[in-house]
Amino acid sequence: MEFTQQTQSQLANLQASLESQYETFRLANLNLDLTRGKPAAEQLDLSNELDGILQGFYLLQDGTDVRNYGGLLGIPEARQLAANFLEVDANEVMVGGNSSLTLMYSYIDHMLPTWRAGLVNDTDRIKFICPVPGYDRHFTICDHFDIDMLTVPFLADGPDMAQVEALVQQDPLIKGIWCVPKYSNPTGHTYSDAVVDQFARLSEKAGEHFTIFWDNAYAVHHLTDTHDSLKSLMSEARAQGNQDSVVILGSTSKVTFAGAGIAFLATSPANLKAFEKHMSVSVIGFDKVNQFRHVRFLKDAQTIEAHMRKHRDIIQPKFELTDKILNEHLSGKGIATWTRPRGGYFISLDTLPNLATEVIQQAAAIGVKLTPAGATFPGGLDPHDSNIRIAPTFPSLDALQRALEVFVVCLQLATVNQLLSD
Ligand SMILES: Cc1ncc(COP(=O)(O)O)c(C=O)c1O
Repeated sequence: MEFTQQTQSQLANLQASLESQYETFRLANLNLDLTRGKPAAEQLDLSNELDGILQGFYLLQDGTDVRNYGGLLGIPEARQLAANFLEVDANEVMVGGNSSLTLMYSYIDHMLPTWRAGLVNDTDRIKFICPVPGYDRHFTICDHFDIDMLTVPFLADGPDMAQVEALVQQDPLIKGIWCVPKYSNPTGHTYSDAVVDQFARLSEKAGEHFTIFWDNAYAVHHLTDTHDSLKSLMSEARAQGNQDSVVILGSTSKVTFAGAGIAFLATSPANLKAFEKHMSVSVIGFDKVNQFRHVRFLKDAQTIEAHMRKHRDIIQPKFELTDKILNEHLSGKGIATWTRPRGGYFISLDTLPNLATEVIQQAAAIGVKLTPAGATFPGGLDPHDSNIRIAPTFPSLDALQRALEVFVVCLQLATVNQLLSD
């Protein structure tokens, strides 16, 4: 029965029972962690073959010795691999370092002087649009560079584009938008073809040098047989002559080794040339040995798909277990909604308003860590204090089950407490 339809005395009984379950958990001295969107060790093991795969062979077909300096855009073979991954042309790609987050940071650092040249008054500030809930580290980059963040909600097929278009039309100081267009972090959204088409034309409505940060971190990270498909933004933007507004990012962090993969950035050849010059101040060439190892290991689309299937076999049961426990304990009670993603790394759950902080604190007090409330919003401020990001991949199935059992008790208890105090 829905909690809100229960009488005060029914709720009081429920409260007593939940409090006793909470006490039992407290006595168990738990130490569990649901915060980290990291691959489990078993997933990392899938790529151990990378180690030693070159067998002392370091020369590319064109004679380049990958152990030496140079080649800032990446080795041709890795640029082609990344191009297939991001659905762009190889001459639009830089393969750089092991972190796409670093590439995003560096690209914004590179664009800031251009963006700031358009500021007229001392009080003017560069702004970005942030669809919410979103990826906290995108927001941290904006904070770091003093970029203001304007939030826009998600609809079923991507961000609310009417709002996005109205905002960029009104304010030419909006210079960017963050997008995780496939299996979005944390909601699992994949943008529809119509939304991608709107993005391809967005710069026509926006101020100068408007840039779409298309963070395709979960491009191949399917959890079911029905793979979401994402229309190629670059092809569509090229067709419209708007390729300069597009920066696409990706990496193999959740394909091979999270801390030692390869990262890519794709944009128009003209933008890429300027960005290469910017990067050349701080680096002579990225780790080409690792790029070559990845080319050898990941080979082509079929090999990548087969490899990702092995990841899925490990993590899909964790997503299923999470959904099962949430269903068993929360369904039909009118106290939470959550996503059932077809890919990616997260489940996004919403409590009733003004409860997320309380639930997370209660869980933390008895040894279950969850991502801090508000983390999925700029400035850590969720206006409804209701969104909670669940990351099921890292813990073992056993640890996940225990952590979720605590979580559902905390969520119910916080809700009952609130209803009784209203
Ligand atoms: C949307 C998104 N982008 C980027 C990253 C980090 O990528 P990388 O390891 O390539 O820096 C993550 C990691 O969780 C992510 O969720």
